[in-house]
Amino acid sequence: MHDKFLAMTPPMGWNSWNTFTWNINEALICSAADALVETGLKEKGYTYVVIDDCWSLRQRDENGRLVPDPEKFPHGMKFVADYVHAKGLKFGMYSCCGTHTCAGYPGSFEHEFLDAETFASWGVDYLKYDNCYKPQRVDGEILYKRMSLALRNCGRDIVLSACNWGHENVHTWIRSAGAQLFRSTGDIQDNWESVKRLFLSQLDKTAYAGPFCHNDIDMLVVGMHGASNNEWIGAIGPCTDLEYRTHFALWAVMGSPLMIGCDVRNMTPATLETLGNENLIRINQDIECRGPYVIRLGNNPEAQIALVKPLSDGTLAICLANLGDTRAELSLQFWDLGVSYAQGVGLEFYNVFTKENEGAFRERYVKVLEPHDCAVCIAKVTRF
Ligand code: GLA
Repeated sequence: MHDKFLAMTPPMGWNSWNTFTWNINEALICSAADALVETGLKEKGYTYVVIDDCWSLRQRDENGRLVPDPEKFPHGMKFVADYVHAKGLKFGMYSCCGTHTCAGYPGSFEHEFLDAETFASWGVDYLKYDNCYKPQRVDGEILYKRMSLALRNCGRDIVLSACNWGHENVHTWIRSAGAQLFRSTGDIQDNWESVKRLFLSQLDKTAYAGPFCHNDIDMLVVGMHGASNNEWIGAIGPCTDLEYRTHFALWAVMGSPLMIGCDVRNMTPATLETLGNENLIRINQDIECRGPYVIRLGNNPEAQIALVKPLSDGTLAICLANLGDTRAELSLQFWDLGVSYAQGVGLEFYNVFTKENEGAFRERYVKVLEPHDCAVCIAKVTRF
């Protein structure tokens, strides 16, 4: 959304993996780009079209260069990049810091500078960089620093999307290594337990948020409805539309990149409404990129959670989430937010789902939430 600097705010776009895995080709990628434009998602900020694993031949060419599979990409990658760029979108690809990608194609280990040049020559704007087949003797930190340096010197602005699944305390060194985003979790699946597990695993990392380097909790499963070519991703589940909405809200407020994983050529109105929620996107893309603070609520602190994210205009984005399996009343005490009742200060609530003002409150905000539902509001300081 903020084009001037590379990934100042969390990248938004679409990635081929969750739904299509190995079954990718030129027509699919081009039609996904078309769909982002036609559905209005591009206008909302979803600009990256990213090809994940399985795009290359099994061998490099005689000069050591990666070669796109001519059956899947008959006109090569520059053609796809040009097509995506002509739509006003940005083009992303995938490689791996190890000797092979997770699906067994050539990885970039010991070829980082050459591969960065190759990606630049094709017009790539974003590189997802995975962690499979990493030689045990080499620290991941070195390898991510290496690709970062290669990309920063390849003659083209290319976002580095590090994907080491939260290994090796990645959050402590990845910003200095130069990446713009870092996967902090194992792979997501299209079910509520997976969404909940990944979200909970990052609650102690929210202080590592900030512009130019974003905690990637993994690609979205919103709207997949079990339709994945990847049996593991769709193994149990899928999520309900309500769970997809909560998943999207949590990722948005946490400041995760928002990479769509469903088939964007074929979305239901509910999916489009969830992915297109302008208020949640605005919260996610707030220029300060502050991570939320976390307040555990009531008598079920494992499942009843408030996220409070200070926005650059002085308001607070507040998400109350009922992760539990029973209906619950969640009560947020303003004392915990620094709102001073004694000084006549309260909060006025605007609901991002109903798009209605809910009025001003002095001491607390209370919501009864169904299992797996959440409420997200933008709260503005007011005086009584
Ligand atoms: C790993 C990553 C996934 C995906 C696959 C591709 O599992 O975490 O996001 O890129 O590899 O093989």
